[in-house]
Amino acid sequence: MLFQWVFVSLSFLAYVAALVTPLSDWAKLIKLGPNAPYHKAPAPRGVKQNLPSDCKVKQVVYLSRHGSRYPGFEGTYVSAMAQTVTTAQPVIASARLPRELRFLKTYTSTLGSEDLVDKGRQEMVHHGKEFRKRYPHFSFEHFVTSGSSRVIESATYFGKGYFGHNWNDPSMISPIPSNPATLSHLTPFQVCPNHSFSVSDSIKGAWQNIFMPAITARINAAVPGLNFADIDTLGGFYACAFDYAAHGESPWCGAFTKQEIDQFEYYADLDVSASWGLMHPQNMARVMGSVYTKKLIQRLSTNEENVAYVELGHDATIAVAMTAMGLATDDPLLPTTHIVPERKMRSSNQVPFGGQMVFEKFTCSRSFEGPQVRLILNEATYPLTPCIQSPRDAKYGTCSLSNFIQSNQFSMSIEFGDAQWAASCGVPA
Ligand SMILES: *[C@@H]1O[C@H](CO)[C@@H](O)[C@H](O)[C@H]1NC(C)=O
Repeated sequence: MLFQWVFVSLSFLAYVAALVTPLSDWAKLIKLGPNAPYHKAPAPRGVKQNLPSDCKVKQVVYLSRHGSRYPGFEGTYVSAMAQTVTTAQPVIASARLPRELRFLKTYTSTLGSEDLVDKGRQEMVHHGKEFRKRYPHFSFEHFVTSGSSRVIESATYFGKGYFGHNWNDPSMISPIPSNPATLSHLTPFQVCPNHSFSVSDSIKGAWQNIFMPAITARINAAVPGLNFADIDTLGGFYACAFDYAAHGESPWCGAFTKQEIDQFEYYADLDVSASWGLMHPQNMARVMGSVYTKKLIQRLSTNEENVAYVELGHDATIAVAMTAMGLATDDPLLPTTHIVPERKMRSSNQVPFGGQMVFEKFTCSRSFEGPQVRLILNEATYPLTPCIQSPRDAKYGTCSLSNFIQSNQFSMSIEFGDAQWAASCGVPA
């Protein structure tokens, strides 16, 4: 009795503690959109994660985004923020700061640019090991990668995980050049001259103007004389992600509340939707994603068995492919005025560093008739909603291969450079 009482009280205390404990850094990091470290996606409710036991995977088409890297354009904001902090150092030095901002007394930023960081190498070694464990009977001839060096390096570390640490065989890595003269299913945006980031700049800028000023004001009130502008605050969010990628921790993660992180997550989702999703006008993302989709269907339509395709690319590769397939697309489009909690676009879970999009073709002796397809996105079944027809399809999140092809008629109807391509992307070089 006493024991029970103690147990109940302790559970209650743990419950209260969970409510008042601030969100851990890790819980914040995995909400930072495409700059989130690799993590498993949450499994969607009501969808079986394992196939029936009479089913067998015949083909695997695997695509990984490169691992964690140094910042690209985000680095500009981090440096500007660090400069603002340095300029204010004389006032900060003598100020009484709240605990979560005390780090500003010594904060400096040392980050490289664009290249893979050690954590990114570890993510890829892990992916290689896990791939081997999951598909021991599958073989592949080479790694196909985009042309960028962090992607090629990612393939090298995937190979070390897969074959062993001494493995080093550059001849197994086949990069497709990333340039405007080369059509690649991994970088179709290179041949879409009218793609423009000004769209996402204005969309995410509109939301930034709504949520960021309050955060900036909070920081400025806590640190008189700091004089942050909203872009410094933005630099703080990016510093959380990229300090962590490069150094394994960032004091900036602790500087934001759960609500502020949720607002930044929405900012990241708008960014991906407007850069590589339906919010980019002229159906451009679907047109770009048609290249990967057609390649996938072409591969799944062969009779090969135990053959895997192992490819490495970018967040944009995954995002445009999913958009073309009608996955993770919000209808109506996401507003820039408030957060939509039930949205489908969740870039943190869909395209984090090292994000993995895996299509499996499988057949079953009893459960399903004919070849079937499923998508495993960051280790969770991602239901292929546009082609799901039967209750059994819905239970496993899968589709028959023929229904999958049927649901991708838009992609199948486009030829690179044809009128439809030109109407969205403009005329390629
Ligand atoms: C592509 O961009 C060019 C140059 O800005 C413009 O003239 C053309 O109309 C655009 N094409 C489409 C399909 O938007």
